[in-house]
Amino acid sequence: MPPDFRIIGVARREKTDASWRTELRQALDQFSRTQPVDEAAWQRFSGHISYCQGDLAEMATYQRLEKQLSALASEPLRHNLLFYLATPPSEFGQTVEKLHEAGLLQPDTNRGWQRIVIEKPFGHDLESARHLNRELTRFASEQQVFRIDHYLGKETVQNILMFRFSNAVFERLWNRDAIDHVELTVSERLGVGQRGGYYEQAGALRDMVQNHLLQVLSLVAMEPPVSLVAESIRDEKVKLLRSIRPLSPDEVMRQVVRGQYFAGAVNGELRPGYRQEPKVKADSNVETYVALKLFIDNWRWSGVPWYLRTGKNLPLSTSEVRVQFRPTPHVLFAAQCGQDLDPNALVLRLQPDEGISLRFNGKVPGASVAVRPVRMHFSYDAEFGAYTPEAYERLLLEATAGDATLFIRRDEVETAWQIADSIRAAWGDKPLSNREFYAAGTWGPVAADDLLSQNGHAWHEPTVVDSGKNKVNSGLKPNG
Ligand code: BG6
Repeated sequence: MPPDFRIIGVARREKTDASWRTELRQALDQFSRTQPVDEAAWQRFSGHISYCQGDLAEMATYQRLEKQLSALASEPLRHNLLFYLATPPSEFGQTVEKLHEAGLLQPDTNRGWQRIVIEKPFGHDLESARHLNRELTRFASEQQVFRIDHYLGKETVQNILMFRFSNAVFERLWNRDAIDHVELTVSERLGVGQRGGYYEQAGALRDMVQNHLLQVLSLVAMEPPVSLVAESIRDEKVKLLRSIRPLSPDEVMRQVVRGQYFAGAVNGELRPGYRQEPKVKADSNVETYVALKLFIDNWRWSGVPWYLRTGKNLPLSTSEVRVQFRPTPHVLFAAQCGQDLDPNALVLRLQPDEGISLRFNGKVPGASVAVRPVRMHFSYDAEFGAYTPEAYERLLLEATAGDATLFIRRDEVETAWQIADSIRAAWGDKPLSNREFYAAGTWGPVAADDLLSQNGHAWHEPTVVDSGKNKVNSGLKPNG
């Protein structure tokens, strides 16, 4: 942090500066990556933290905040303000309006800068997102609004552009001529747990697909931006989202699979069904799993299926993009090894065990002609050491610096909602069928497998790598 800064926490509970600092310190002791916490560093840092008690619905809170700010000695501290709204989404609009009324947030000010960071979920459909966008931009310009999708703060997600556009060898193959299909998996071992209240309003489509999965997809598939400035990158991402072929209600039925977990065991641990989770309706139809097949109608990707899946209570917590290349035109080793050689695949492992793997075929040593798929691994830990910054470290720093590259633009969030809404509309109020349930601890409903088998494809078990040691422990079957 720069030498001069303040962090002011605003919330309803009665706290003093000192008691809030104590709470933060306890949280650091519990969660910080660096243990034990450096006492001298904490002392230096905590002196910049204070608390302002108040209800966000009341104007008096904002006036108190304004008073605290105007008491600060330095001019930039009084006027360069970043408002981080980790509030219930229903309060975004009124909070921004009241910040404006209190004179803390001005659209075009010649007194420093003010920015608002908005947490997800940004609306719950296109209509509500548009409404919220209109609300926000009554009191702030689009350049002042920083919509968070924490996936964009992940190192590995940022590396997608670096990887694609700094390596000629892969970018030349990054199109329909060489790529057969792409799988994007974001699986979670955790169930919904204590978040039932929120999740009942969200479901996997809104919670994960509309934002995290479509963001990763747009980075993997977009065209090269003209430069690295925020608007160039965001232009390309929106263009890509707009090229996703819209799904008619019939296509949703054929190309989108939803699921909900029932009781089962994840890694030996018993988990309740979704309908038994706290604050979840006993007959809830909310999806905890979604798998979908999308097509991108542009020159680069025409005809290439993109398979996306995400779910709770799955066997592994992992996020990865698997790019499967087309098979060789002719199998020279067919007599010895059979017709089906494993095609090449490139796996971008976003988390955990961050890295990239390339799968290709090699000769098994010995006198006979036997081919076996092998892997080349790049591991972040092994190459750069274990330190990978948390997504939020990066995002808050970027917002402070005023760089919007890693944040979602208005048209981007709206286009992503259009895609999610078309799916939700086709589902309507239809109750889940038996085929749409899956046991906790499995890879989702069977229908998700059928989705790929229609095209002769199958989901691949995510790549498991023993961090930092480049040791593969997923079973690679010999071919021939
Ligand atoms: C959040 C979702 O945005 O992302 C959660 O609301 C989900 O349901 C989380 O668990 C996943 O994030 P990560 O960084 O753990 O992959």
